[in-house]
Amino acid sequence: MTEQKATNITWHQSLLSKQDRENILGQKGVVVWFTGLPSSGKSTIAHAVEEELYRRGHLCYVLDGDNIRHGLNKNLGFSPEDREENIRRIGEVARLFAQAGLIAMTAFISPYRKDRDKARQLLEDGEFIEVFVKVSLKEAEERDPKGLYKKARAGEIKEFTGISAPYEEPLNPELAIDTDQLDPAQSKDMVIQYLEDKKIINKS
Ligand code: ADX
Repeated sequence: MTEQKATNITWHQSLLSKQDRENILGQKGVVVWFTGLPSSGKSTIAHAVEEELYRRGHLCYVLDGDNIRHGLNKNLGFSPEDREENIRRIGEVARLFAQAGLIAMTAFISPYRKDRDKARQLLEDGEFIEVFVKVSLKEAEERDPKGLYKKARAGEIKEFTGISAPYEEPLNPELAIDTDQLDPAQSKDMVIQYLEDKKIINKS
């Protein structure tokens, strides 16, 4: 539990509701939370979804692990505690984006179930869409675009997810996408279809 350090603070209520902002944008504000092993395809799918949504006139934003670790979370490493804080902050930021009416997509390994569940609890029912980007370790290691699995196998990276740090698979994700079987375009279509089915966006 993160300590509440600040005292003498008061919540200031907005005069506008989430719904007011959603009405301007013609969409529901949600968090699409991609989780999976390194090289599973989280970022690739999230950016493909973003591109299609943009083409269809929707406002969205991708929060991506490698990018956020250059700025907001540059003071965090890969210990379980630092990963927990990484995911806690991202959960809060994603919630703010959803409150603003955006379709926020997060592409973080987010290996711990309890950390993902805490992010879910920040949102209302239906506003948190957990997408398990499933891949076999064998396939992920073959892809290895950044050469990190290779380094981890050689002992050059400690606590590397899938090799020397755990990944806890989601038990009940809203969507599971097997990227051993599906290419990025098919994976993207599954997410778009889900958003249409749940009336988060209109059908094209
Ligand atoms: S998370 O576990 O805290 O969710 P996050 O998604 O932010 O991780 O960052 C993962 C990215 O950091 C990977 O894509 C990889 O490029 C890089 N990375 C560097 N060291 C590690 C490590 N030990 N384990 C996993 N990813 C690492």
